[in-house]
Amino acid sequence: MKLKEAKMTALELKETVSKYMIDTYERFDFIAETAKDMYLYDENGTGYLDFYAGIAVNSAGSCNEKVVAAIKEQAEDIIHTFNYPYTIPQARLAKLICETIGMDKIFFQSTGTEANEAMIKMARKYGIEKYGPEHYHIVTARMGFHGRTYGALSATGQPDNACQTGLKPMLPGFSYADYNNLSSFQNACNDNTIAIMIEPLQGEGGVHPATKKFMQGLRKFCDEKGMLLLLDEVQTGWCRTGEVMGFMHYGIKPDIISMAKAMGGGMPIAAICATDEVARAFSLGSHGTTYGGNPVCCAASYAQIRELLDRDLAKNAKIIGAYFMEQLTKLPKVKEVRGMGLLVGVEFDGVNAAAVKHACLDRKLLITAIGSSIIRMIPPLIATKEDCDKAVEIIEEAVCEVVKL
Ligand SMILES: Cc1ncc(COP(=O)(O)O)c(C=O)c1O
Repeated sequence: MKLKEAKMTALELKETVSKYMIDTYERFDFIAETAKDMYLYDENGTGYLDFYAGIAVNSAGSCNEKVVAAIKEQAEDIIHTFNYPYTIPQARLAKLICETIGMDKIFFQSTGTEANEAMIKMARKYGIEKYGPEHYHIVTARMGFHGRTYGALSATGQPDNACQTGLKPMLPGFSYADYNNLSSFQNACNDNTIAIMIEPLQGEGGVHPATKKFMQGLRKFCDEKGMLLLLDEVQTGWCRTGEVMGFMHYGIKPDIISMAKAMGGGMPIAAICATDEVARAFSLGSHGTTYGGNPVCCAASYAQIRELLDRDLAKNAKIIGAYFMEQLTKLPKVKEVRGMGLLVGVEFDGVNAAAVKHACLDRKLLITAIGSSIIRMIPPLIATKEDCDKAVEIIEEAVCEVVKL
């Protein structure tokens, strides 16, 4: 909806938000009215180059035509039903996803954190049923991020982060180990450990890709111990890293994988996929959801995934991401440029990342800041070299302004 149609001024809208909404977000001082492909437009029609993409969601471009058409078409038939009748959008999406990523079974959810809840529940139930009631311990990575519901939050190895402040105690049964450090994970496991759960690249934790040695080492260790490898691909999934799924870089497969964000093209849909053996832990009544697998979300997701695959946006992410990273290394005050595909972080030496983010915002570029010194760019995967050049130019100006070069 546009401001004019809402019959409000920008000031009235902001006052309404501040009066009625429980606001846990830092607000940017503009109203997002429309979006198309690489751009978000404000109430005055000013375009913002969107290297945020709704937090890695709008991967086939904002308001992708095929996704919009699929939503409209499905909404005419059934917007929502319960999960007892069969629906066509669910069935064809299930087949597309399982066959594309080589997993046996899928369960639909609505958000990333919910998918991780399902993944944790399935792993625990598998462990308890196979090995006994104490076998529910899961080891996750320090500085990981898995979501904000209690299970996913407890799996998040950031006890001092605002996301856990004032919310203790966390759920029992989790230990944390150092990312990219196999022996740290091995040492954190005990006789009751049933799974290791990690992201193939830590996004919220500062853009740290996993090494091949680490991922392959974890897979081997899990196999030797009869434990499960759980991958959280909520942010890395669906072409973001230059492969369809992050795990495909490593020549391994997870026992359960969670996904969300890019798979819905902006509609709230998430899922876990599991091997046949592990999926059997869930049976009648063990898990459920009102909205997971909603027909409109499934139709949108099918259109979005087809777009990502048919246009080979994983390849674009790989090529453009490599180019982007190379250009970013030329920025002043850079300590390190990290990433995979179009999930890219720049760590600065003595430059305040939040100030850079705001200076970029002033110049109509949307990026995110992590901690005190890292900026993260997660643009739509349709980004071109020209889009990246423009972003680099703006970031350079922003850094120069912040450090007064
Ligand atoms: C790796 C990872 N897992 C889980 C989540 C939580 O997803 P959601 O915000 O959809 O609950 C996020 C969100 O950023 C994420 O990056």
